Amino acid sequence: MYYDINQDISEISKRFEEDGITFKDKTILVTGGAGFLGSWVCDVLVKQGAYCICIDNLTSGSTKNILHLMDEPNFRFLNHDISQPIFFGLSHHPDGICVGDIKKLDIVMHMASRASPFEFKDHPISILKSNTLGTMNALGIAKAHNAIFFYTSTSEVYGNPPDDAIPTSESYYGHVNPVGPRSCYDESKRAGEAFIKAYELQHKMRTKIVRIFNTSGPRIRHGPEYGRVIPNFINQALNDQDITVFGNGSQTRSFTYVIDEIEGFLKMVYKDEAIGEVINLGNDKEYTILELAKIIIKLTDSNSKISFKPLPIDDPRRRCPDLSKAKRILEWEPKTPLKEGLKRTIAWFKDKYDWEKNE
Ligand SMILES: NC(=O)c1ccc[n+]([C@@H]2O[C@H](COP(=O)([O-])OP(=O)(O)OC[C@H]3O[C@@H](n4cnc5c(N)ncnc54)[C@H](O)[C@@H]3O)[C@@H](O)[C@H]2O)c1
Repeated sequence: MYYDINQDISEISKRFEEDGITFKDKTILVTGGAGFLGSWVCDVLVKQGAYCICIDNLTSGSTKNILHLMDEPNFRFLNHDISQPIFFGLSHHPDGICVGDIKKLDIVMHMASRASPFEFKDHPISILKSNTLGTMNALGIAKAHNAIFFYTSTSEVYGNPPDDAIPTSESYYGHVNPVGPRSCYDESKRAGEAFIKAYELQHKMRTKIVRIFNTSGPRIRHGPEYGRVIPNFINQALNDQDITVFGNGSQTRSFTYVIDEIEGFLKMVYKDEAIGEVINLGNDKEYTILELAKIIIKLTDSNSKISFKPLPIDDPRRRCPDLSKAKRILEWEPKTPLKEGLKRTIAWFKDKYDWEKNE
């Protein structure tokens, strides 16, 4: 075995212990909890002694990510599409499914949404629904329970910012194409944020929005069709295939390792200072895509060559967060260097290949 996830989970728990953060005895609903990021959140919450309810319709997630949690007394999985109403603490409601025995939710974390660029083409309606109707349903649940509401928005709400908006702060309004191939994602996340602000204003709810910049790590979806750069490059490198770089590779991205991101999410959920805030979470060290390709070739000791393909429409040229707010309000910044995060992700990929061979 090359990678042990328990070490990463323990690292997050250790950071929380040092900061006095605990979710023990809280009842927390996580939509999208069988996905890449959601399953990490569930893992940490279960380990912390929270009661964690995961809603997922398994469209882009997998029960493989949460199988090890199924027997835990403080974990529960509900296979449900959050675009459809669901009610907690009620035995009957004419408009949707009811989960009667959960009387009080403390926190609702709405993370359910397909998020890979390849899905924008095949599943645009489901993406729009998850971030609009799904956000509305999740807000309704939080409202009924007077729970804290947390939403995973995205750096894509900024669209393609000009150079003078890099690094991009939360006060930048965005440069987004409302009718382009990415609009189902970008615009529905923007609409999701607007829903949240409306509920906050009208119902005085405690809400928190995080704008996530490119995050990778073990459990990320992979395969050539998924279109996320780190898993694509690792896959290609481990198979000695050409690494396909779009454009000339000079476009930049900033990459966060998953445990840093999860620490940021949960700090945001925990801290009262974050109520009503929108905060960027990511890494402010920019790499060109060409640099990334070369680092991955080296770390995997691969014989892959680099080949170039045309840049997709509306592909952002630069992505880099301004993290001042995260540093000030959450006292958070990413700790894992890119190469270290990549090493752990590559190790997880190698394990996966071994398991798949033996399946
Ligand atoms: N990973 C990143 O770099 C990144 C960047 C920006 C934003 N985000 C956001 O973070 C969240 C999680 O992303 P991820 O990378 O873990 O993606 P993922 O695809 O691995 O996880 C999303 C999960 O949501 C579930 N889901 C989708 N639609 C649903 C619905 N209608 N009802 C119930 N479940 C549904 C999927 O089955 C999956 O388990 C998403 O909201 C995404 O937009 C992620």
